[in-house]
Amino acid sequence: MEKSFVVRGHICYSPVPEKIEIVENGYLVCEDQRVAGVFETLPEQYAALPLTDYGDRLIIPGLSDLHLHAPQYAFRSLGMDMELMEWLNTHTFPEESKYADLDYAARAYEIFANDLKHSATTRAAVFATLHVPATKLLMDLLEQTQVKAFVGKVNMDRNCPDFLCEKDSATSEMDTRRWIEETMGAYKNIQPILTPRFTPACSDDLMERIGRLQKEYHLPVQSHLSENPGEIAFVGELCPDAGFYGETYDRYGLFGANGPSIMAHCVYSGDAEVELMKKRGVFVAHCPQSNLNLASGIAPARKYMDRGLNMGLGTDIAGGYSLSILRAMADAVGMSKMYWRLVDESCRPLSVSESFYLGTKGGGAFFGKCGSFEEGYAADLVVLDDASLPHPQALDVEKRLERVIFLGDERNVFAKYVEGDRVF
Ligand code: GUN
Ligand code: FE
Repeated sequence: MEKSFVVRGHICYSPVPEKIEIVENGYLVCEDQRVAGVFETLPEQYAALPLTDYGDRLIIPGLSDLHLHAPQYAFRSLGMDMELMEWLNTHTFPEESKYADLDYAARAYEIFANDLKHSATTRAAVFATLHVPATKLLMDLLEQTQVKAFVGKVNMDRNCPDFLCEKDSATSEMDTRRWIEETMGAYKNIQPILTPRFTPACSDDLMERIGRLQKEYHLPVQSHLSENPGEIAFVGELCPDAGFYGETYDRYGLFGANGPSIMAHCVYSGDAEVELMKKRGVFVAHCPQSNLNLASGIAPARKYMDRGLNMGLGTDIAGGYSLSILRAMADAVGMSKMYWRLVDESCRPLSVSESFYLGTKGGGAFFGKCGSFEEGYAADLVVLDDASLPHPQALDVEKRLERVIFLGDERNVFAKYVEGDRVF
């Protein structure tokens, strides 16, 4: 059968947050781009399939990055001394305005796409900029990486500088419609996603138009929510009749009611907002490194897990400087400890397995059956080589995985497959 094969190695995955399933020297069978099963000994029926033996290496599901900004990759790690609104105005908007120039966009997006390709990420939800040609170029480049990604042309028509602001809501809608028509169904790996930047940058009229586009084209939505105290106060001024920030999306159907939606950050979501996210199935993109860098605050990831919200991890490049979801897992554990210590002692820290779950199956759920090795899941897998992280003892596989999560990066990614295709 097409794209059917077996890989052998130490197989690690989390069907549930509480535990990492490990099969040492196990066999992962992929049939027709999907996982057929994980076995301690290879069943006879699969003996004829091609087998790749990865020896002493670890095999994990491909990782999902639920939130990142491709045009911000070039300035990641620079200018990390401000909080959100000042950072957007000082660094982010001037940098994003450069993507009006396709030559600059090509140079910058090639670097980004190459790094994403060699990361452990197999699925991603990506913000571009408001520029249609550069967004299409990004989609072309990401298509070649074989990462399965939703990419959004950004909508923004108010409270932003002249050099990075759409002329009006009608122009924004027209450009978005043209972009959707040109990109929907045009790629194997890439799909468009509606991307109102955040309520401060989108007029009511623009939100309404995006809501109508969603109904017409049935596209998912990504945006930002309750990230920073100043931002939230601004939304309160702009939308005095909204009970909470999430309502400013929900009243246009952009909060999960009419299709899947990802909301990044949710650092300060109150009970009513959390209840609506639960009801609407909104995905929280938890971006711990960004929340730290931009001094946004500490998102209550434990509360969201216990409440059973859909949740995954995001790098939020360039709020976060690392493109690695392994790093996001480590940061999620660390930030949850600070929440427990400083904010609410009834919220115990996330365990490594819970964080691993968020970076694999938790975020993967946005893309369908992704991020696990249970039967029927997409054959997205990453082979990790930890030989560069020597240890004086013979550690068990779980400890080795824990060390790669905390100490590893893309240099430890030995091989990667997406839906049964080997990328490298
Ligand atoms: N809110 C609106 N735009 C942005 C952005 O580019 N990054 C982050 N972290 N938050 C935002
Ligand atoms: Fe963001």
